[in-house]
Formats: sequence, C-alpha cells, structure tokens
Amino acid sequence: MISIPEHTLNDGTRFPALGLGTWPMDDTEAEEAVAGALALGYRLLDTATNYRNESGVGRGVARSGVAREEIVVTTKLPGRHHGYEETLASFEESRRRLGLEYVDLYLIHWPLPRVGRFVDSWRAMIKLREEGLIRSIGVSNFTAEHIERLERETGVLPSVNQIELHPLLPQAELRAFHEARGVRTESWSPLGRGSALLDDPAVVSVSEALGVTPGQVVLRWHVQLGAVPIPKSSSPERQRANLDVFGFELGPAQMAVIAERAQQRLGGDPEVHEEF
Ligand SMILES: NC(=O)c1ccc[n+]([C@@H]2O[C@H](COP(=O)([O-])OP(=O)(O)OC[C@H]3O[C@@H](n4cnc5c(N)ncnc54)[C@H](OP(=O)(O)O)[C@@H]3O)[C@@H](O)[C@H]2O)c1
Repeated sequence: MISIPEHTLNDGTRFPALGLGTWPMDDTEAEEAVAGALALGYRLLDTATNYRNESGVGRGVARSGVAREEIVVTTKLPGRHHGYEETLASFEESRRRLGLEYVDLYLIHWPLPRVGRFVDSWRAMIKLREEGLIRSIGVSNFTAEHIERLERETGVLPSVNQIELHPLLPQAELRAFHEARGVRTESWSPLGRGSALLDDPAVVSVSEALGVTPGQVVLRWHVQLGAVPIPKSSSPERQRANLDVFGFELGPAQMAVIAERAQQRLGGDPEVHEEF
C-alpha cells in the first residue's frame, strides 16, 4: 500500500496530497472504485450532489473497512440549492446519501455569479462547520474576486478551491493568489480528462527520461506545484499507477516544458458557466 503525504489546511485539518475523482461513475461503479482505491491507499475522495453517486461512494467507504477518521470525503453543493436554508437542506440530503455522521470537505460547486447567492450558502456552511457536521469548507471554480467577496462579507476564507488545472491550463495567477491567502489548490481534470495531453511529445519524452508513465509525469507536476490532483479512474491498474507519484521528481526544466503550450480550457468558464 502506498502512503500519501499530507498538507495541513488553513483550518488545521490534514489533507492528502492526491485523491480519487468519481465523475462520471454511477453508484455501482463508484462503490467498486472507492472500495478498491481505499485498499490501494487513497484517502481523499471527491464526489458531488450532481454526480448522483454519493450513495455509491458512501457504500464504498463502509465496505472498505478503513477507519472513518483516516478518510477525507468531499462533496459539493449544486447550483439549484444556493441560498442559506437551501444549503442546509441540501447538505443534509448529501450526508444522508453518503451515510456519514460528518463530511470532511464541503464545496460550493460553481459560484453562479449571475444568481448571486453564494455568500448566503457560505454562511450556512460556516454554521454547519461550527456544528461539527462539516470539518472543512471550501469552494470550486471560484475566481480570486469571488473568494475576496466571501472574506469581505463573512471574514472566513475557504480552505480549498477546486479548479480546472492541468498542463493545458496551468492557472499560475490563481495559484499565486491561493498561496498568498492560504487556500489550498485542488486540481480537477488533472490529466486533461484523458485527452491528447498524455500523448504529447513533451510529456512522453519526460516520462521516457524518468522511466514512468505520461500520467504519472502529469500528476507529479501537480504535486510539485503544491496542487492536489484528483484523477478519476475506474481501472485498478490506473488507480494504482496514479497514486505512485511520490518516489520520483521532475527537474525545473521538466516542470517548465510540460506546461509550455497554448492554453486550453476543457470545462466551463467560472464567470459565466451555469449548472444547477
Ligand atoms: N469541481 C468541478 O467542477 C469538477 C469538474 C470536473 C471534474 N471534477 C472532479 O475531478 C475529477 C477528475 O476530473 P476528470 O474525471 O474530468 O478528468 P481526469 O481525472 O483528468 O481524467 C479522467 C479520464 O482519464 C482516464 N485516466 C485515468 N487515469 C489515467 C492514466 N493513468 N492514463 C490514461 N488515462 C487515464 C480515465 O479513464 P479510466 O477510468 O478508464 O481510467 C478518465 O477517462 C472528476 O472525477 C471529478 O471528481 C470536478
């Protein structure tokens, strides 16, 4: 079993340096993947109300036999439930589907600036954390401006911002902002969603030089940036390979060459993307 290094979040909780994504698994697939991943040594899990697999993730956790306090379970608030009371109710539904006493990390999935209710949701999340039902609160797809608004209006910074991040979209400016404010960066679609990135000549050449796979090169790039990647894989072999990135290092030139390319967003633009 591989042991994963940990970060400490700005609220003092421990946070594994790499985790497992579960979109677009269904309940059955998620249960298998989560139980298998926990046996391999994964301790950070990522789901969301909108993935419709929280029950499967919860079953995988229960089945694994790994002590609950060793596992960091993340889920997310969907756009249709923004608002104070709506957030309290939505969280309770997620907690019930997961079958857990508490959730480790709860994120606002998208800011939906046009709807304009993410601060109300944030206040509800602060209350849930005070009540002990959530250990850490964070956001996803927030810009620096959205995060500053949370701090200005509530005095509470998120512990994590989960953003689209991979060598096609290195997000240098937002990462620097996070670092300055003590917000941990978490990377979604860290492998570029299984796109051509893994066949890219620069990535392949670094992988050949180091004797590892292209996927491992890209995940190691995240780890060395201090960002926490959550690669999704339903395959036990790829889950194992994705976890095995703590025994080698990329040099400065290898770090640079991987991200030297035209920028390309694979998902939505946080300023305008709406999903409910
Ligand atoms: N907050 C948000 O808005 C947001 C948005 C998107 C995603 N997410 C989260 O981030 C997680 C990861 O993102 P993602 O699933 O979009 O993309 P990803 O993790 O970059 O890529 C996943 C794809 O790559 C394949 N894959 C996994 N490991 C591989 C390897 N070593 N070599 C080659 N192919 C590999 C997977 O297939 P196999 O399963 O067959 O291995 C899958 O098709 C999601 O599962 C979800 O939890 C969050």
